[in-house]
Amino acid sequence: MKKPYQMLLKPLAVAITTAGLLVGCGSDDNKSSSTSTAAVADTEDTALAFDASNYTTATITVDGENMTVRQYSMVYVANPIAMASANRMGSTSVVTNPYIYQTMIVTVPEASLENQTTALYFMVNNGGWFNSPATASVTDGGSYVSTSDSDNVGAALKAGYVLVDVGTRSRGLRAEDGTYAGKAPAPVVDAKAAIRYLRLNDSLMPGSAERIVVNGTSGGGGLTSAIAASGNSTDFLPFLDAIGAAGVTGSGDTLASTIKDDVFAAVAYCPINNLGNADAGYEWQYNAIRSDSNTGAISGVAYSAGPQPAASAEIAATFPEYLAGLGLKLDDGTSLTTDNINDEIVAQLKAEIERQIAAGVAVPAYGENFSVTQRGVTSEVINDWLVLSGSGTSATVESIDFEKFLKFVTTPIALKTVVAFDATAVNGNTSVSGETNLFGNENYEYSNFTAWSWDNNEVVADGSGTDDTGVTWADYMSSSDGEDLATQLKLINPLSYLNTDADSAPHWYIRHGMIDRDTAFAMQLALYTAVKNDPNVQDVSFKLPYLVPHSGNYDVQEAFAWIKETLDAAN
Ligand code: DHB
Repeated sequence: MKKPYQMLLKPLAVAITTAGLLVGCGSDDNKSSSTSTAAVADTEDTALAFDASNYTTATITVDGENMTVRQYSMVYVANPIAMASANRMGSTSVVTNPYIYQTMIVTVPEASLENQTTALYFMVNNGGWFNSPATASVTDGGSYVSTSDSDNVGAALKAGYVLVDVGTRSRGLRAEDGTYAGKAPAPVVDAKAAIRYLRLNDSLMPGSAERIVVNGTSGGGGLTSAIAASGNSTDFLPFLDAIGAAGVTGSGDTLASTIKDDVFAAVAYCPINNLGNADAGYEWQYNAIRSDSNTGAISGVAYSAGPQPAASAEIAATFPEYLAGLGLKLDDGTSLTTDNINDEIVAQLKAEIERQIAAGVAVPAYGENFSVTQRGVTSEVINDWLVLSGSGTSATVESIDFEKFLKFVTTPIALKTVVAFDATAVNGNTSVSGETNLFGNENYEYSNFTAWSWDNNEVVADGSGTDDTGVTWADYMSSSDGEDLATQLKLINPLSYLNTDADSAPHWYIRHGMIDRDTAFAMQLALYTAVKNDPNVQDVSFKLPYLVPHSGNYDVQEAFAWIKETLDAAN
């Protein structure tokens, strides 16, 4: 018998014929109708009407001046799932508010209460792709600054934007009924449901739901990119329907949407995106430079003494075909492949280093040391990869030894062990780690989600892998359970939706630190190229910021200048 979750996951072929319904993808005539009002004939939507009188007031300072804000907290779906416990990074806690994961907190500067056009700064906060309870980023008595490079909340308040802190389900959650209720695509579905609430109530709430700027870092950057790429895709309707999201009508084959969930802009830092292919990209990028000095032991077995090198080589070998299969194009029309992607990364490094030099930053000469801070620890690492020519602020990059650059990146901080993302139950790893517990059905803690890890799963009775199911990855993926897994992988992956008829965000700001080893540079170049190739996209700002580690919201002045310029241009 099918478990409810499996039924829920069935790929959907929605035939939408009902006249007058907004179906999302594609058609431009739908766009004008997307400012929905609360006047939608749907009982769930009626239950989701915004209550303007239900708020608290907080007094804060921004740049030392008093500011009053109104804060609204609402469950944004009609059928929220009650949660019982939450695991984040290995520690489990009891959930006190069972609906906090499908709650958002909307903070409105008092001066913007009557403003129907200001942007909604929509913050997702699922670091590690973990579950994230709604947490107010503005609190009574708090002090914020708009002029710093690290206070995005202060900058958003000063700009008069409406701030949205959205909670989402994701991995690590268990519902009151004991199921693992945060599996993919839950975080994307929940964020879209919150967006739909904002659209449903747009005329009743301050700000404009046509100007949603999504912000997130790492797991949150991956989520940001998935939300921004997949606007109005009907793939999400069965999942949205199951939780009572606004603007979903019908059932089964008649499911349709009366509300849009596309967004205006994405601001994504180090987006851990495209998890289904992140391992292939990671091993392809780093295989040649992995060693005992930059790759840790697993369960006491050193990198070189165990199964990691062979696994890395096998996984790496799958990336060229994957990348070529994306059909992405560089500006000159050349296909993006593993033959040229490292050159593209080098071009980005060169451009960034030259911007820094021009701005007066003292970039060390060849043989001098870089001062590198990773996870709060500063170390001196020799420049054996970058040769400059000329001097002062007009120096330029003469050459970059890319392999040595990769070693440089992994000197102060080790690489992830092999397998990096689909890490559970392989190569002697006995912990549930990597992103493996984002996948699989709700009755199991995790499922391997890549071919290599599936085929090499070594934990008996975890329900995952050839050892338990008797089928290889290839056979599994053509089974009904495998189709469900493919759906999970698809719906969290921005590349599934860029360059399709989904309504991708027109504006993108993507950053990935120059010394960030949490995902491969190649994955970010693929995302950037896919965004650039998408005909819906009007502009994309992409950089590999100088000596920046895995982190986000470190360039707030630049990001907010970009947001303002982008909003002004859309006026
Ligand atoms: C994050 C970091 C990772 O290395 C990863 O695989 C997923 C998420 C994070 O910092 O959010």
